[in-house]
Amino acid sequence: DPPPPPGPLSFTGTKLVNDRDHPWRPLRSGDQRGPCPGLNTLASHGYLPRDGVATPTQLINAIQEGFNFDNAAAIGATYLGHILNGNLVTDLLSIGGKTPKTGPPPPAPAHAGGLNVHGTFEGDAGLTRADEFFGDNHSFNQTLFDKFVDFSNRFGGGFYNLTVAGELRYSRIQDSIATNPQFSFKNVRYLTAYGETVFPVNLFVDGRQTERKLSMDHAASFFRDMRFPPDFHRAAQPSSGAGVEQVIAAYPWLPGANADGKLNNYVVDPTSANFTDPCSLYRFVLGSVQELYPRPTGILRRNLIKNLHYWYTGAFGPAGCPEQFPYGQL
Ligand code: HEM
Repeated sequence: DPPPPPGPLSFTGTKLVNDRDHPWRPLRSGDQRGPCPGLNTLASHGYLPRDGVATPTQLINAIQEGFNFDNAAAIGATYLGHILNGNLVTDLLSIGGKTPKTGPPPPAPAHAGGLNVHGTFEGDAGLTRADEFFGDNHSFNQTLFDKFVDFSNRFGGGFYNLTVAGELRYSRIQDSIATNPQFSFKNVRYLTAYGETVFPVNLFVDGRQTERKLSMDHAASFFRDMRFPPDFHRAAQPSSGAGVEQVIAAYPWLPGANADGKLNNYVVDPTSANFTDPCSLYRFVLGSVQELYPRPTGILRRNLIKNLHYWYTGAFGPAGCPEQFPYGQL
């Protein structure tokens, strides 16, 4: 049975996390890494299994312990990834590509393909990852990192901060509108794209430092090398999306896509999940899940019910969203 998600940490302060018990090690053949620099780093230090295949419980424990990610956001992000990209029978998710290590895949159209699967959690206009349209949606991209550095120089005095985040988020959207005919920026992707711009400020900055700004050395260490900087201490308090309002306010932007596969043809989608209705993401994902799993039976059905409930309880119950039971109740 998939167990309920772990609760918050008991000690929630800063501490050394690049410690002797968690040495960085290079990749071995078959190890999975993907689009998320946070999870990649945790796997390369052994907070997650080094092969990059983990249960939701392992993911929540690792992001809390290694980065001081707050419990509600940890549950929200983990089950979102797991429900869309994980193997719900074996309770395993690959943080990168599809691998036999997550067990036999469920019947199509479900895929258990890992976080690299485009258009589920992973999406366009990433900071240091290219759009799927250009061929590789998950590897560190040096050209994009050069842009990250350039923007940090121009708007942050050589550091990445919330001002830089606002500028870079907007510019990456404009890049995709102009160059990716299949650009899509709605539902899950619309919402996560903003959170991802503030994680580096809140979670990649050493917890002993009072100014919320990330040096380019430390940025490269996480984004490119999947490695904590030497002596790295995690954030001083549990956090996740703080400051995202500032990034959104810099260039308010609505969810949408380049329509008809045409460049420079961004059309807003009023049916997309958005920031104004906190239950809209829940409703959208429930719809996607039912497309992936139209008629689950047995363990698959049981685990869908459990995982959806865990996700709801951590992420949407507190917002007052009504719980839905597309597969009934146990
Ligand atoms: C990006 C998953 C936790 C930092 C991503 C992406 C995925 C993902 C799928 C790619 C989105 C895209 O750009 O298309 C997850 C899951 C998490 C998690 C499932 C929890 C289990 C974290 C944590 C951190 C983090 C704890 C920071 C400590 C980032 C950043 C990006 C990102 C900075 C943007 C990468 C870029 O655009 O270059 N994450 N993530 N994530 N994640 Fe995570």
